[in-house]
Amino acid sequence: MTIIRLWLGVTWIYGGWSKAIDSGYLDPASSTYFGAQINGMIGHSPLTFGLTKILEHATLFAWFVMISEFAIGIAVLAGVALQAASLGGFAMAIVLWLSVSYHVHPYFLGSDLPFAVLWLALFLMVRNSNNGRGRHDGGLIPNLRDRREVIRIVGVGVGAFIAALAGGSFKPKKEPVSAIIAKNADVKVGEVKKFTALDGSPAYLFKTAAGVFAYTAICTHQGCTVNYDSLANELACPCHGARFDPNNGAKVVAGPAPIPLPKIKVAVQGDNIVQI
Ligand code: FES
Repeated sequence: MTIIRLWLGVTWIYGGWSKAIDSGYLDPASSTYFGAQINGMIGHSPLTFGLTKILEHATLFAWFVMISEFAIGIAVLAGVALQAASLGGFAMAIVLWLSVSYHVHPYFLGSDLPFAVLWLALFLMVRNSNNGRGRHDGGLIPNLRDRREVIRIVGVGVGAFIAALAGGSFKPKKEPVSAIIAKNADVKVGEVKKFTALDGSPAYLFKTAAGVFAYTAICTHQGCTVNYDSLANELACPCHGARFDPNNGAKVVAGPAPIPLPKIKVAVQGDNIVQI
């Protein structure tokens, strides 16, 4: 049991840490943003309905997932509320399987399902060996009348929170990058220009009397490339009919897309319009 606790605890903490030090995980403009990852799973997972709801509060869920990974990992290593922690790990692995590795074939090549089995095995081992009165664990629902147990659980929560915040100090500093999209003089007010963003994805630049702005052309529904419809002045997805209003934050005006198109930061610098 110790080896399984060690393996699962370390792995879950590592999972939390890799999110904590990822400068894009909480950044909606990044391709590694939690919401972007969820977006990529929508339509390919049996949990699509739930994932669409999660996408509406993506940053909040991003924190929740990161802190839960730390909390479960620390609890399992420290032997705090072991049954509850193993069940939490099991639930997390099942959700990952249904959303991330559901289509991996054959099934044993994806890691989430074996992790789910391992978590379930740990839960049953703790439950059986302790029979609800064990040294490490007083039952599935921790005894909140036991002051020491409460202190240990609060300690795990605080530890998880501190670990999530500490990761921020290890994030690699972003070098300021810029890329020229066009000569400012070559783009007239009212003109729309398709360009390739720094991450290689297609994007649209708009120039109005108020200035320049841009959006990714990757549809937030299932990732098709949207086109500019000059008659309606909207960005339109050819796949399932989503439409976005570029003059209103690329908000969804029709179709199944759950969220607006992400904005791309652009500015006029000297003679050029650049992505910043
Ligand atoms: S991919 Fe479905 S509406 Fe765009």
